[in-house]
Amino acid sequence: MENLNFPSDFLWGVSTSAFQIEGATREGGRGPSIWDTFTETEGKIAQGEDAKVAADHYHRYPEDIALMSELGVGAYRMSLAWPRIQPDGKGAPNKAGLDFYDRLLDAICDAGIAPTVTLYHWDTPQALEDTGGWLNRDTAERFAEYASIVGERFADRVKMWIPLNEPMVMSIYGYAIGEYAPGQFLMLDAIPTAHHQNLAHGLAVQALRAAGATNIGTANNHSPIWPANDTDEDDKAAIWLDALLNRLFADPVLLGSYPEQILDHLPANYAADLATIHQPLDFYGVNYYEPQGVAAPGEGNPLPFELRPIDGFPMTTNDSPIVPHGLRELLLSFHNRYQENLPPIHITENGCSFADTVAEDGGVHDPERIDFLTGHLGALREAMDAGVDVRGYFVWSLLDNFEWSKGYAPRFGIVHVDYETQKRTPKDSFRWYQKLISND
Ligand code: FCB
Repeated sequence: MENLNFPSDFLWGVSTSAFQIEGATREGGRGPSIWDTFTETEGKIAQGEDAKVAADHYHRYPEDIALMSELGVGAYRMSLAWPRIQPDGKGAPNKAGLDFYDRLLDAICDAGIAPTVTLYHWDTPQALEDTGGWLNRDTAERFAEYASIVGERFADRVKMWIPLNEPMVMSIYGYAIGEYAPGQFLMLDAIPTAHHQNLAHGLAVQALRAAGATNIGTANNHSPIWPANDTDEDDKAAIWLDALLNRLFADPVLLGSYPEQILDHLPANYAADLATIHQPLDFYGVNYYEPQGVAAPGEGNPLPFELRPIDGFPMTTNDSPIVPHGLRELLLSFHNRYQENLPPIHITENGCSFADTVAEDGGVHDPERIDFLTGHLGALREAMDAGVDVRGYFVWSLLDNFEWSKGYAPRFGIVHVDYETQKRTPKDSFRWYQKLISND
């Protein structure tokens, strides 16, 4: 195996999220989330699939933790389901929900693995969506209340905290183009949802610290933006899209300001919140999957850009181009843009989906995933050699899981899940990662 020479204290991990693996959506007093509603709405999810069982992690977590022990990871990134803890998104916590996460976190700690906990991976309690969801500023206040409940209960065991996962995806996919829950089509009028999530982040950081939590960061999806042609028009479109996809969240959190392109679309009183949003962070989590192509808008397009596919690279089954050096480019651009305002980075998600199947010999052979991970870790190493301070890397994902509106077809796990029997089979990439971790 190629020796990538990562520092001996580099943190190796795997990631999951609650809605994608837990199942048991009606057990333990859990309230409905926007993703339950969305999966029940006809035509929203491929094959009409839902996550009522998913990978049944709610019942099978001891087996999944045993797999992580075998893998040898130092950290496990998971999320808490807000509607398990506050079924209506407000008020007194649900005891059964807190008890479930108590047992889960204890078992993770007992296995010698550091829990990295995301408070919110898109499963807004439906009751809060009914009062406007992230369009309503009050949701940020509710989130702070939730953060203080979980901070007080779990700060003694959680080693890294991430208030919100990928607010960009929630705003764009959930509120601007309606591909994800809650399924709204507001285009640029969705931008207030970004501001309210940024505010929720800042308030939650304060609430967590007040509850005694330490090592708090964030996790955002970022992409290098590639203009389709070398023209001034396409460059201009790329600058706009970069502001929307990359800077709308990173700038206020790291710099305390918004990119100028966005200002007209923010709520009127946004400036008063910037100091709250701009909290000192202990790390910045980057989720990287692919670059994004862009061109100047065609006639009749009301937006200042037009998305373009990236051609000329191998693709995953999730239609993502595989571009490892995009990770190096992204990290270097972050390093140059934010300089001393950028805390140490963790790659909180990186991975790929293929149509993995169990072979006749009982194994799951996924050489494409091993190539993907090798390529991306090589690019990461190069970025570190060029001066970017990266402390850890989390593969998305430990398990095959419910990939949102695409359902179960895209398999992102390094462990295969047979959804009929719930049998787990470590893939070849699991063995490869295990060896990498033990060598490094
Ligand atoms: C990220 C999400 C994660 C998963 C991967 C493939 O954007 O955070 O839940 O769906 O993509």
